[in-house]
Amino acid sequence: MPSLSAIILGTGSYAPERVLTNEDLAHMVETSDEWIRSRTGIRERRIAAPEEAASDMGVKAAQRALDDAGLKPAEIDLLIVATITPDMPMPACACFVQQKLGIPSTTACFDLNAACSGFVYALDTAAAMLGSGRYRKALVIGVEKLSTVIDWQDRTTCVLFGDGGGAVVLGTSAEPDRGLIGTRLGCYGDSTEALCIPRGGSRSPSTAESIAARDHCIRMKGKEVFKLAVRGMDEAARDILEQHGVRADQISLVIPHQANLRIIEAISQYLELPMDRFFVNVDRYGNTSAASIPIALDEARRGGRIKPGDIVLLVAFGAGLTYGSALIRW
Ligand code: UT7
Repeated sequence: MPSLSAIILGTGSYAPERVLTNEDLAHMVETSDEWIRSRTGIRERRIAAPEEAASDMGVKAAQRALDDAGLKPAEIDLLIVATITPDMPMPACACFVQQKLGIPSTTACFDLNAACSGFVYALDTAAAMLGSGRYRKALVIGVEKLSTVIDWQDRTTCVLFGDGGGAVVLGTSAEPDRGLIGTRLGCYGDSTEALCIPRGGSRSPSTAESIAARDHCIRMKGKEVFKLAVRGMDEAARDILEQHGVRADQISLVIPHQANLRIIEAISQYLELPMDRFFVNVDRYGNTSAASIPIALDEARRGGRIKPGDIVLLVAFGAGLTYGSALIRW
């Protein structure tokens, strides 16, 4: 049997309506539009409505990806949701998405937590499962409602994040030079504390005091994460190119995790690839964690930035500190 490569059949994304600008934040914490823009490149981010859970946003993104692929929910037999903000700790967000979209009960449904690298990890997982020949069509969603785990009194983190969702529908192709060429995943597990939600898990369940101290919110050592982000993304990008004999200048578009424009600029310098080969929308959404790459991928594709035959590089990093890359021939 020829080996099957995973191909993207459709993309979709969803951003909640409410826009929170840097000016708005300057009324909430001691910060300024100038500081946020110069340090991160972010101008605004979207915030989900109180009644809008991660699965609701995931469903909207998924519906657009299914329409784009020309497929019906009934044709999906594998559903993976990459998220750190599921509707509930259990069951998985994927189960809610399945139910809302009317995806068959014979579909494998689960969540994957690799934080901001979650979409790249989920893409690799889905591609391997499709490649086994035991699944035919996969829906991979990256979605986050980070506004629920942000400490809105901590100016070092609350200016960085936003809500949203992105999705892809995957199928298989027997053409060897189309689809997912390869992936390279990794994790610097000795830096778990650099970016984490310290309480509310089995190590340290929430108490009235921990909630009052907002310890169920994101805590981050920004400078440490910045350095590891650049190291991990550079390593993941370089390794995958070398592994598959692709030169950096053969890449048509890099879709990096959208966390900070300065991180993206550093990767552009390290890879000696000009910024016009990098897709950037961090200015409009901030960091949406697992949703950032699929939202960017959808916008890039719909905006005509990706053409058949193009080589596209996805590269991410996140809490863990996880990192990963995926090389795709469109
Ligand atoms: O998906 C992974 C998510 N994480 C990341 O990508 C984060 C990676 N790290 C970063 O992006 C950057 O480290 C930050 C944007 C978080 C911070 O930028 P920085 O250039 O590393 O700033 P800094 O932390 O060194 O802070 C510089 C100053 C400090 O004041 P002092 O100590 O110099 O007086 C901070 O207290 O800026 C202050 N500061 C702020 N000022 C205004 C920190 N946050 C703010 C703020 N507004 N929001």
